[in-house]
Amino acid sequence: MNSPQKPATADKYTITAALPYTNGPVHIGHLAGVYVPADIYARYQRLQNKDVAFICGSDEHGVAITLKAKKEGITPQEVVDKYHAIIKKSFEDFGISFDNYSRTSAEIHHKTASEFFRKMYDAGQFIEEVTEQLFDAEANQFLADRFVVGTCPKCGFEEAYGDQCEKCGTSHNATDLINPRSVISGNKPVLKETKHWFLPLENYEDFLKQWILVDHKKDWKTNVLGQCKSWLDDGLRPRAVTRDLDWGIPVPVKGADGKVLYVWFDAPIGYISSTKEWAEREGKNWEDYWKDENTKLLHFIGKDNIVFHCIIFPAMLKAEGSYILPTNVPANEFLNLEGNKISTSKNWAVWLHEYLEDFSNQQDVLRYALTANAPETKDNDFTWADFQARNNNELVAIFGNFINRVMVLTDKYYEGIIPEPATFSEVDEQTLAELKAYPEVIASSLERYRFREAQAELMNVARLGNKYLADEEPWKTIKIDEERTKTVMYVALQIASALAVLSEPFLPFTSQKLKEMLGHAALVEALSWNDISTKPELLKPGHKINKAELLFSKIEDEQIENQLNKLKQTKMENTENKEKIASAEASQVTPQKETIQYDDFAKLDLRVGTIIEAEKMPKADKLLVLKIDTGIDVRTIVSGIAESFKPEEIIGKKVTVLANLAPRALRGVESQGMILMTENADGKLVFVNPGEDGVENGATIN
Ligand code: 2FM
Ligand code: ZN
Repeated sequence: MNSPQKPATADKYTITAALPYTNGPVHIGHLAGVYVPADIYARYQRLQNKDVAFICGSDEHGVAITLKAKKEGITPQEVVDKYHAIIKKSFEDFGISFDNYSRTSAEIHHKTASEFFRKMYDAGQFIEEVTEQLFDAEANQFLADRFVVGTCPKCGFEEAYGDQCEKCGTSHNATDLINPRSVISGNKPVLKETKHWFLPLENYEDFLKQWILVDHKKDWKTNVLGQCKSWLDDGLRPRAVTRDLDWGIPVPVKGADGKVLYVWFDAPIGYISSTKEWAEREGKNWEDYWKDENTKLLHFIGKDNIVFHCIIFPAMLKAEGSYILPTNVPANEFLNLEGNKISTSKNWAVWLHEYLEDFSNQQDVLRYALTANAPETKDNDFTWADFQARNNNELVAIFGNFINRVMVLTDKYYEGIIPEPATFSEVDEQTLAELKAYPEVIASSLERYRFREAQAELMNVARLGNKYLADEEPWKTIKIDEERTKTVMYVALQIASALAVLSEPFLPFTSQKLKEMLGHAALVEALSWNDISTKPELLKPGHKINKAELLFSKIEDEQIENQLNKLKQTKMENTENKEKIASAEASQVTPQKETIQYDDFAKLDLRVGTIIEAEKMPKADKLLVLKIDTGIDVRTIVSGIAESFKPEEIIGKKVTVLANLAPRALRGVESQGMILMTENADGKLVFVNPGEDGVENGATIN
C-alpha cells in the first residue's frame, strides 16, 4: 500500500502514552484509560497526513519495582526484564502503533535524565537541604514513596503512598502522611536526617496558574482542570526529586552516593529519551518534536498521573528552559471490572496477554468495547456481558452485516467488479452527501478527545449503509431494473470504502482486512481521512474487489462464561486469603514477615550456648546479666528476662545465641549478643532451646 505523502511542513504531533510500570502486565484498565485512546488519536493524525511521533516505553525505576522484586525473590533487573518483554509484546500484538517503545533502563535514558538534572542543578534550580525523612530502623532503610503507607492528609484515605494518594490524586511528601507505617516491616517509622534536592514548586505557581487555569481554561478536560485547580488553590511546596534508594538513576552530583533520582523525575523524561532513540533510528531530529513551538505535545494518561504531567513535569520543562509545554493532557478516569476496582495485587483484572490468548485475532472487539465504555468523564465499568453484546449486536449485526451484504452482492451480480452508476436519485445524492460529512463529524469529536462519541459516529456510517440497502433493496431491483441496481451497489461500495478508512483508528485490524477485501492496494494513492469528503469517488467503476472474509464472528455464551468463571475463581481465592489472614489474626499468630533470601539468613551467626552465670542487673527490674559459654568464648549478654526467671534456676540451661549481633551497652554493661526467646501459650517467656541431645556449645544452627 502506498503511504500518504506528508507535506513538507506537516504539523508535528508528539503523542506520549504513560510509561507503564514494569511490575506487572498490562490490563484493560490501562488500555481503556491510556493506550487505546492514544492509539486512536495517533492513527487519526497520521491519516490526516500529520507528522506523528507516538512515544512510549517501560517505566523501570521506583519502589514499585523494588517491592515486586522483594516479593518474587528476584532482582529488580530480573523484574523489569520479565515484564518489559511481556508488555512490549502484548502492545505489539494488540496493534498499539507506537513509533517507539523504549525503556528507562536504557543508556540513552540514563544519560538524558542525568543531563536534565545536571542542567537544572548547575542553574541553581534545586534547593539542597538536609531534612528529617521517614526511616525504618529494623530494615535500615529510608521509607520513600511506596515503601510507606499512611493516612492521606487531604482526603483521609488510609492506604496513601508516601508520594501520592491514589484515591484523591494528591501528591505529597512522605512526612505529610498521618500514622505512617513501613511496608517492609509494618513498623512505625522514625525520623532520620538525610540530604536531598528539592524542586521549589512554589516558584512556578504563578506560571502554572496562568498557563493551566487561564490559557487552557477552555480546551482542557474539566476533570483535569478540576484537579489542577484544587492543588494550585492549596498552594505548592518544594518536592524532593531525589531518594535514598539503590535502584534508579544515580544523582549526578558529588556527595550523592547511594541516592537516585525520584522515579517521577526520571520517568517523564523517558518520553524525551524514547523520542531520541526513535529519531536516531529514523534519521530525524528529535528536537523538532520537543523544542519547536509549532509542535503539539500531548500526554495521554490516567487520572492518577495528572499532578505529575500538569504540575511537576511542566515545572521541570519550564525550569530547564528549552522545551515546549504540553498542548493538552487528556487524562481519563478509571475503568472498573464487573463492579469492582481493578487490582493487580488482587488479580482482579483482564490481562491483555491473556485476552490475546483467549480471543485470538479479536483485538478489535476489545478495542471497540473499551472505547464504547471509555471512562472519559467518570469511572466506568467493564462487564463481559457488555463485551459480548457490543460484538454480537453492533460489530457483527451492524458493521459486519453491511460489509458482508455489499461484498456478497457485488460478487454475485458483477463478479466483484464495481458497476458503472446511472443517474443518482435524490436519496443517492443525500446518502453520498451524508457520507462526505462524516470525516468532519468524527474528527470534531476526536479533536476534543471524545473517543466514545467519535466511535459511535463511525458506527453511524455503517448504519447509513444498512439503511440505504434496506430502503433501496437491490436484491429486488435486480429482477426489474438493472441500471438502478448498479447505481445502488456503486453507492453502497463507496460507503464500504469510506468505512475501511474511517475505521482505521478505532478498528485497525478490521480496517486492514476490509481494505484488502476492497482492493485498496490497487488504488493509485492510499486514501487519507479527508479524501472521504473531497474525492468524487473512492472506488471507480471497473475496479475489481477481492474475496469476502468474515470481519467479525459471534461470541458465544460459553466464551463469556469461561471469563466469568476465571473471575469467580479469583474472588474465591481472595476470600480464602482474607479468611486465612483473619484467622491468623484471631489466633494472634504474627503474620509472616517478608520473604528473605538465603544470603540474608546466612548473615546470622546462631550458636548453641550454656548459661554459666546469672545475676540481676542492679536497679533494673527486667534485666539479667548472664555469662554464656558460646563454645567460641565466654561472654556477657544482658537479657530482658528477669521478670520470668530467677537467676539460680537458669544456670546450666542450653540456649540459642545470636553471636554476631553488634555489641550494645545496657546500663553501662556491654551486651555481646542476644539469647533467642519465645512465649508459651500463657504468654510466659521461654528459651528457644536447642535440646540436650549431646549438642556441644559452639555448634552452629543453620
Ligand atoms: O502510573 C504509572 O504507571 C507510571 N509508571 C506512569 C509514568 S508516566 C511517565 F511520566 F513516564
Ligand atoms: Zn487522598
